[in-house]
Amino acid sequence: MEIVVKAWLNGKMATAGKLRWSGPRMEFWYHQDFLQHGYALDPVNLPLNESIFEGVHHLQGPLGVFGDALPDAWNSYVLTQLHKRLFSDWEKLLADTSPQRLGAMQFFSNSSSKETPRFHELEWLERIAEWISGSDHSEPLPDLELGSSAGGAKPKTLIRLDGEEWMAKFPARDEIIPAPWLEHGAMSLAATCGVRTAQTRVIVLNNAAKTPVLLVKRFDRSGFDRLQMLSAHTLCGVLKNEQGTVVNDYRSYLRFADRLAMTSEADPVDRRELFRRAAFNILIGNHDDHARNHVIVRGLDGKWRLSPAFDLVPGSGNRRDLAMTIGQYANEASVRNLLSECERFALSSSEAKTIVAQLLDVMPGWRQIFAQAGVPERWINDIAWAIRADIDV
Ligand SMILES: Nc1ncnc2c1ncn2[C@@H]1O[C@H](COP(=O)(O)OP(=O)(O)OP(=O)(O)O)[C@@H](O)[C@H]1O
Ligand SMILES: [Mg+2]
Repeated sequence: MEIVVKAWLNGKMATAGKLRWSGPRMEFWYHQDFLQHGYALDPVNLPLNESIFEGVHHLQGPLGVFGDALPDAWNSYVLTQLHKRLFSDWEKLLADTSPQRLGAMQFFSNSSSKETPRFHELEWLERIAEWISGSDHSEPLPDLELGSSAGGAKPKTLIRLDGEEWMAKFPARDEIIPAPWLEHGAMSLAATCGVRTAQTRVIVLNNAAKTPVLLVKRFDRSGFDRLQMLSAHTLCGVLKNEQGTVVNDYRSYLRFADRLAMTSEADPVDRRELFRRAAFNILIGNHDDHARNHVIVRGLDGKWRLSPAFDLVPGSGNRRDLAMTIGQYANEASVRNLLSECERFALSSSEAKTIVAQLLDVMPGWRQIFAQAGVPERWINDIAWAIRADIDV
């Protein structure tokens, strides 16, 4: 089984290489033309050379960038519901051939295959919202295909609005406080704390439930152009076994900071920015800050940078510590841990403390910032337990 990998190059799709499945073995090699004129799809694990790269446990290790392009829990669920069977990874890669596909890559079963011109607009959100909130997910929506490449666990879709592309995130069915409001509030607070955030807004649908939907401006687009992106999960070389259990300890802000030092055009600015994000996650109790919630993006100038921050939700995650190591005290969500290895983020101890102090200056005003962002009062009260505005440094 072979898949043709295309990637955005100079305003159009170019053949980047081929993926071959042979039993459990998966390989990738670059196309000759792409070797001449293209770019490394992953600047660390998949350098632009004539090697045949072999995946580790499927699409991991050197082939992790293709693993990043797979739909995650939500869109895999959608595919299974609609087609009444499980999809293999290669089928999942081939499932979304719309120009809205996340990132700069596209996957085809042969080189003459074309994209399906499909763009969802605002009206689509209302139709899909009904489907998501209903209990019967086995009926496909009439005339429109569901399922997309977007990763993550929460219900979501990709839409175009006034010519711009956005990721739309819905409340989950069993959610007590609607995540779209919390995420929008947290993103607004983060921006006030000096974090470089993706632009967000909430639209309330005109359906009976008045569903709030979070729109996050896509950072893998620059006008018409599509930008390649790569998760910290792949960049850091996190590996899972067949059972899905992580088998190394590479889920680490420190390791990611080292990788940023190697790859980011804006080093050390991006490492310091990462430190600010970690501090923010501690203060809002965002414990879902896992290695797929950090991304680097390749700009049109060919340079890689840390993406804007996204998926910041107060009081989220099934734990009380962070999802990644931050310092000498492993995942402990504390300022002492954050400060303990600050030089790995290109910060002296006093510079690191200054950043934390800047955040702590903003935090007491968090309620007003949430309110100004439009978050309804009752949800602000309900999430107050998660926000830590009064830590001593
Ligand atoms: N604004 C954006 N532009 C481009 N890609 C994005 C954007 N926001 C998120 N992504 C990509 O989509 C993936 C899923 O998005 P997100 O993390 O917001 O979803 P989620 O369902 O909340 O995730 P989780 O499973 O972590 O709860 C991200 O891991 C990232 O790769
Ligand atoms: Mg996420």
